[in-house]
Amino acid sequence: ETKPRIPVLWLHGLECTCCSESFIRSAHPLASDVVLSMISLDYNDTLMAAAGHQAEAILDEIRHQYKGRYILAVEGNPPLGQDGMSCIIGGRPFLDQLREVASDCQAVIAWGTCASWGCVQAAHPNPTQAVSIDKVIHDKPIIKVPGCPPIAEVMTGVIAYMLTFERLPELDRQGRPKMFYGQRIHDKCYRRPHFDAGQFVESWDDEGARKGYCLYKMGCKGPTTYNACSTVRWNDGVSFPIQSGHGCIGCSEEDFWDKGSFYDHV
Ligand code: SF4
Ligand code: SF4
Ligand code: F3S
Repeated sequence: ETKPRIPVLWLHGLECTCCSESFIRSAHPLASDVVLSMISLDYNDTLMAAAGHQAEAILDEIRHQYKGRYILAVEGNPPLGQDGMSCIIGGRPFLDQLREVASDCQAVIAWGTCASWGCVQAAHPNPTQAVSIDKVIHDKPIIKVPGCPPIAEVMTGVIAYMLTFERLPELDRQGRPKMFYGQRIHDKCYRRPHFDAGQFVESWDDEGARKGYCLYKMGCKGPTTYNACSTVRWNDGVSFPIQSGHGCIGCSEEDFWDKGSFYDHV
């Protein structure tokens, strides 16, 4: 409460906007408290009132006024093909905007699997040459918060940590905050006793499915996916994909889109 609100510039590249959709649903802390009391969200072209030239002018203003002090949050990624023409923001390639705003920030948050790993728009054969943001930003610390989208409370939790302790959260060797990505879905999955007992769903709607058995044989990627879904869960802790009856597709993992998550195993 005693600290000044830190400016955050939130850019959108190639993406679907569901990272923003997830963020605004955070319950602990409330997204409204984050935006109104903890940070100064000076640019987010989905959430801000300004548009057009007025909105773009804010980027320059904050960049110069808070040089080296603002946080850059990136949702989506830059396509490198055709000189970046596959994603145009304010009349120029997103790639240019990203490099420019990154040059004066103190740290970068890569929201979601798009910014962290490339995501589905980078799937083979990747026609736009979409790349994760660490392929174009090399001189700033980058905190990767993967997931498609990331869990709302993980997003606001990362921000709350940075503001409270005035440092970056401890990251693993892939750049993800250990506090949220230190365990696999499988490690804390409530269906794990069935896995250990060899009780598996063998086909949709079989007896095992009705009994809530393990979804491993239906392609669940929980054993190789690092995320907080089985502990934090979604929608204010209500549920997560496996609890809804479908295996994890590994949406927070690099290359999940090209690694058989989408039913080619069935
Ligand atoms: Fe959308 Fe997923 Fe990309 Fe977030 S990571 S913008 S949810 S496609
Ligand atoms: Fe592991 Fe998936 Fe089975 Fe859960 S449902 S115990 S995450 S394999
Ligand atoms: Fe994604 Fe798996 Fe969680 S699909 S939402 S990481 S359970």
